[in-house]
Amino acid sequence: MIRLLLLFIMASFLGKPAFAQSGEEIFTKNCIACHTIGSGDRVGPDLKGVEQKRSVDWIGQFILSSGKLIESGDKDAIANFEKYNKIKMQDFKFSAPQLSDLINYIVLAGGGEIPAPEIEEIELTPEQKAILLPLGSRLFEGMDKFDEGGVSCFSCHNVSYEGMKQGGSLGTDLTNSFTKYNGAAGLKGFIATPSSAIMEVEYTRHPLTQEEITSLVVFLEDANGNGTSDFESTFLLVGGIILFCLMIFVIMILWSEKKRNGINSKIHSRQLKVKHPNQ
Ligand code: HEC
Ligand code: HEC
Repeated sequence: MIRLLLLFIMASFLGKPAFAQSGEEIFTKNCIACHTIGSGDRVGPDLKGVEQKRSVDWIGQFILSSGKLIESGDKDAIANFEKYNKIKMQDFKFSAPQLSDLINYIVLAGGGEIPAPEIEEIELTPEQKAILLPLGSRLFEGMDKFDEGGVSCFSCHNVSYEGMKQGGSLGTDLTNSFTKYNGAAGLKGFIATPSSAIMEVEYTRHPLTQEEITSLVVFLEDANGNGTSDFESTFLLVGGIILFCLMIFVIMILWSEKKRNGINSKIHSRQLKVKHPNQ
């Protein structure tokens, strides 16, 4: 009877291991914006079964600094980076126990032993978006200040948007960042925990509020697709090269015509016909 009781207690511990709890918390707080476990790719790859593709050691290193792995020339890390729109995942500062809790959680949830995490995507209505859009645009440009006094996005980033001047160039052009981050959830995830060190420093000291982030994302969604797309710029580039070659060609033809029919050649041939008096 006592053995049965012991087994029961052990089973209830095994049923929901202690580490799963904190691993789950870490995952929901830091990873869920960009990853699912078993519901498909989001900004980054679906993490279900990742431990079958990569070693646990590799996964740990990747989470602490994917950039370092990429720089070290690791083929899998480079392939990931290329495949997922060249989005670099931010570095995370987890302790060794936190990291193993987190990886254990991903493995257990991926294997269906504990429920997979679910993200609650809050769909904004068009009316809500209409209210948030001007807020986001003013915040982005720095016309309105952030509650905690963070620097405006505009000082480092440009966005092609009607009526907006050229923004800073320290950060990437954000016109198409909504597409790049696969929609609102991914973009929100980036802005809330940016992989850019310079942004992390600024917005850890001066955190953005949820409403500010949401408004910025609504603004970036609206800006998405403005400006030139990759196709257009390739088209412009190729068109430009063809036009340039054509111009050189025309100039060369005109030039050789001129040489043949120019006054100089006429005078020259006339002079050739005239006999020199002394001859
Ligand atoms: C802002 C988005 C974002 C966040 C947040 C994020 N990731 Fe990623 N993750 C990515 C992207 C994009 C890739 C693939 C490309 C790359 O970064 O090299 C990736 C790749 C990975 C990989 C490699 C998977 C494979 O198949 O090789 C692992 C493991 C991973 N992430 C774990 C995590 C964990 C754990 C967290 C939370 C602590 C996290 N990620 C948070 C975007 C994110
Ligand atoms: C002090 C300068 C600075 C400020 C202010 C700043 N950023 Fe950034 N941001 C950067 C840099 C630098 C990068 C990284 C570029 C890279 O890695 O190539 C970046 C990257 C990004 C990216 C990812 C772009 C991509 O193509 O992957 C997004 C999205 C972004 N910032 C949004 C914002 C938003 C929204 C704000 C305002 C809340 C903001 N940033 C404020 C400097 C800044």
